[in-house]
Amino acid sequence: MFDEDLASQRCRWPQWRDKLRTAEEAAALIEDGMTVGMSGFTRAGEAKAVPRALAERAGQAPLSITLMTGASLGNDLDKLLTEANALSRRMPFQVDATLRRAINDGRVMFMDQHLSETVELLRNRQLAEMDVAVIEACAITEDGGIVPTTSVGNSASYAILANKVIIELNLDSPAALEGLHDIYIPQMRPTRTPIPVVAADSRIGTPYIPIDPDSIAAIVVTRGKDSASTVQPPDADTQRIANHLIDFFADEVKIGRLTPSLLPLQAGIGNMANAVMSGLAEGPFEHLTMYSEVLQDSTFDLLDSGKLDFASGCSITLSEECGERVWNNIDRYRDRLVLRPQELSNHPGIVRRLGGISINTALEMDIYGNVNSTHVSGTRMMNGIGGSGDFARNAQLSVFVTKSLAKGGDISSIVPFVSHVDHTEHDVDILVTEHGLADLRGLAPRERAVQVIERCVDPSYRPALHRYFADAKKRGGHTPHCLEQALGWHVAMEEEGHMRRFRYDATADAVS
Ligand code: COA
Repeated sequence: MFDEDLASQRCRWPQWRDKLRTAEEAAALIEDGMTVGMSGFTRAGEAKAVPRALAERAGQAPLSITLMTGASLGNDLDKLLTEANALSRRMPFQVDATLRRAINDGRVMFMDQHLSETVELLRNRQLAEMDVAVIEACAITEDGGIVPTTSVGNSASYAILANKVIIELNLDSPAALEGLHDIYIPQMRPTRTPIPVVAADSRIGTPYIPIDPDSIAAIVVTRGKDSASTVQPPDADTQRIANHLIDFFADEVKIGRLTPSLLPLQAGIGNMANAVMSGLAEGPFEHLTMYSEVLQDSTFDLLDSGKLDFASGCSITLSEECGERVWNNIDRYRDRLVLRPQELSNHPGIVRRLGGISINTALEMDIYGNVNSTHVSGTRMMNGIGGSGDFARNAQLSVFVTKSLAKGGDISSIVPFVSHVDHTEHDVDILVTEHGLADLRGLAPRERAVQVIERCVDPSYRPALHRYFADAKKRGGHTPHCLEQALGWHVAMEEEGHMRRFRYDATADAVS
């Protein structure tokens, strides 16, 4: 049973009681082979009870769906659904180890998409029709409008386009979330008018998802929290990466290419981007803004420090400690935050208009500046491209960070040629590792290679990369390569499980 008074305060739509269902009853609306859209973005704001009930049902009888979300789900939902064989197709992003295995074994077909694009494909019927949407809400308005919780993600378009909508009304989500969201759906092409976001703090839509209340098939009252973010305090290398980038921004301000408020900032998921954002609190910056996707702990540290004026995102993913601070004092942040659909938070046209600074993490980079964010050794999916491509191509300054070594030095993160290209050299301006920063703006490939090898590569792999580049130059070309060796470092990984044959061996005082 649930707290009826609390539920009726949150649910102002008069017919809500007629639609009340248990999670199991609501999950029964989802049939084998259906396409289902669920709320949830970077483990924030996902529907919690219906997916769990669905996984339980799939464990008893064959049931397999196409699942679309905003991005990753929390509370182990992707794991539970994978273990129950409930997923035949999944898009557009995930971070779960069990699902990752199923994707790489070919058991789940995964569509790795730019996060701004999924609902555009759906709207234009380039994807299968959406049968059911399952959306977490903190409130339902008088007209049946859905007030999302900690993420908007793709929830608005899923709820509008689906044949049936299941709403999970989460009584544990802060009621004060109402008012934070700004829901705007671009018009159909080819008569679409410009989307009027002209600054991070532009508000252009409604604070709820307007849907046809006839499509509400079930309301499930739930409780439950988002999974806490796993962001770690910076280690020595991460801190060095952050410091290089902050020094670079400070220099750009000194030269007059940027003002102390920089440009609207986007920072990807993970420890490195979080450390860079936190580091901005110490630099000569003021009146910063964010036009980003996920808002992490660092966003709230910067808001608290007074350095950040405003943050626009499509989800809020916080550590336990930061979550306590933010959710118990949301009024302190309310006027300086907005959550939009990911189609807008990541909109290439808006990013190009605002001219942001995007900071994302690479798995590997090559000497010419191509970046692989997704595929280990070119074949095994890690998480997905997420929003990195939406921002990297369109930002004024596109930055990629990574530690120069992975797996204790077995792998150099800088290689002759990336084994999969997510971000081409044409989209990448700045590369940063703990060793330094390569500013690739205005450089030709041959000039880029010198910068990248000298500034970003770990010294133990530098001689082999210098040698590769020297051999490649002898063959000529605008972007010189020795094609038979270009993926040799990945072949070494496949054959020996590491790249150490390319590592300078100080004890032998030679390049092996
Ligand atoms: N080859 C093989 N494995 C590598 C590697 C490489 N070149 N570089 C890193 N790894 C491994 C690490 O060892 C680590 O493995 P583990 O999980 O077994 O410890 C894992 O990849 C993650 O690396 P880590 O250094 O911890 O970085 P991260 O957690 O910040 O993740 C990405 C890095 C690239 C996987 C992550 O940022 C991502 O998914 N990016 C794509 C999406 C994106 O950019 N979204 C933001 C847009 S808003």
